[in-house]
Amino acid sequence: MIEKKMLIGGEWVDKEEKIEVIYPYTRKPIGRVPKGDEKDVEKAIERAKEGFKEIFSLTAYERYEILMRAAQLLKERAEEFAKTLVLEVGKTIREARTEVQRAIQTLIFSAEEAKRVNGETFPIDAHPNGKGKLGFYIRVPVGIVSAITPFNFPLNLSMHKVAPALAAGNAVILKPSERTPLTPLMLGEILLEAGVPPKALSVIPGYGDVGKAMTTHPDVRVVSFTGSRKVGDIIARQVGIKKLVLELGSNSAIILHKDGNLEKAVEKTVQGGYAIAGQVCISVQRVFVHEDLYDEFIKRLKERVSKLKVGDPMNEDTDLGPMIAPSELERIQEWISEAVQKGAKIEAGGLRCAEDETIFSPTIVSLVPEDSKLFKEEAFAPVVAVNPYKDIEEAIRWVNSSDYGLQVGVFTNDVKLAWKCIKEIEAGGVLINEGPTFRADHMPYGGVKYSGIGREGPKFAIEDYTEIKTVIFDLT
Ligand code: SIN
Repeated sequence: MIEKKMLIGGEWVDKEEKIEVIYPYTRKPIGRVPKGDEKDVEKAIERAKEGFKEIFSLTAYERYEILMRAAQLLKERAEEFAKTLVLEVGKTIREARTEVQRAIQTLIFSAEEAKRVNGETFPIDAHPNGKGKLGFYIRVPVGIVSAITPFNFPLNLSMHKVAPALAAGNAVILKPSERTPLTPLMLGEILLEAGVPPKALSVIPGYGDVGKAMTTHPDVRVVSFTGSRKVGDIIARQVGIKKLVLELGSNSAIILHKDGNLEKAVEKTVQGGYAIAGQVCISVQRVFVHEDLYDEFIKRLKERVSKLKVGDPMNEDTDLGPMIAPSELERIQEWISEAVQKGAKIEAGGLRCAEDETIFSPTIVSLVPEDSKLFKEEAFAPVVAVNPYKDIEEAIRWVNSSDYGLQVGVFTNDVKLAWKCIKEIEAGGVLINEGPTFRADHMPYGGVKYSGIGREGPKFAIEDYTEIKTVIFDLT
């Protein structure tokens, strides 16, 4: 049993009331952490006010050094982090190792960005009123950042908020998902050991009451949330006047045009559709295949999916492990039934594994109607919906019919067609000859419509975690 305390402004605090961490594969408890509440948030914010002064008084170089030290400490504990990720998320050990390596990169990019929190001069005398004046702006940290992160990447998505916020000189309060608080608390350990001013960092496991206290508090200047559209909507309505960054869901698509590389599109569909049991915001959920390639695509996708190794996520060769909770397996089962009732066809899978009740079989559903949940909503499950299209206008219309718009992959060798897709597709990112699940941690990442507001990637997150302060000198 892994026991952790929670972190309140640099102090490790235990409590009677606990949250049990369940291993999604066996459904057995594997960890225990204190359950935070509103009073813990209040205390964290009081400390963060002092912590902010301390971290803001460090030089950019000192913040860079602290974060680089943290990257080194994470490298040294990489395998421990990876195994803990398997236990709390149920992702496979290979996926967990990738998450740790990505988190190291996110830390390093954040450290480097600490050196580039730039301002700019501007010709204030370009305006008739500016005569005899000098104008420039600097970027200053906002103060206190509240960060709320989901279960699917508890380490790297926490890192995407905490590391750039610290790099810019802010205090941070992090609430990880109550299902996966262990690696975020371990992240707290390495950041303190690396030298982050203790009062500038809190990690509070808890439920909605903690989230509400963190997001509505008037001393918090930025709220950064990654999670469901439903919770994002609640947060957006209650935060009040403060900056808000939302990374919400999607039902990301691939378009495979008639001149596109079918083999590569199959491979990217498999990589992106079934990674972490489909529980990724940029999972491949909908694939639109030109009618000339449709039958061949379905055939090859089925062959490839039948080779996926399903089972114990700790095994080195497992490709697909459990979903986070039984309720999620039930939900996706209902969605598939609804699509089938409306005319869709199951090409592979379609139900939970006979041997492992916590695993949903890798599923392909074809001819999925536009009005089914599997088409319209975010599935967050190992299910890929494949539909044929006649012309590119139709495929773009289907992609854009979604409420979401995070990333979309287009497979084509026609530059003009690629450019048409880039211009017309409503999404935060369009990837040509790559799946929508691709993400390098320094690129701008975020969505339009109900996929969210703002962009992550350390350079872009720092824009949200700083304010522009305008300076005017009258030289007359
Ligand atoms: C997400 O699921 O929100 C993030 C995906 C990623 O970082 O790869």
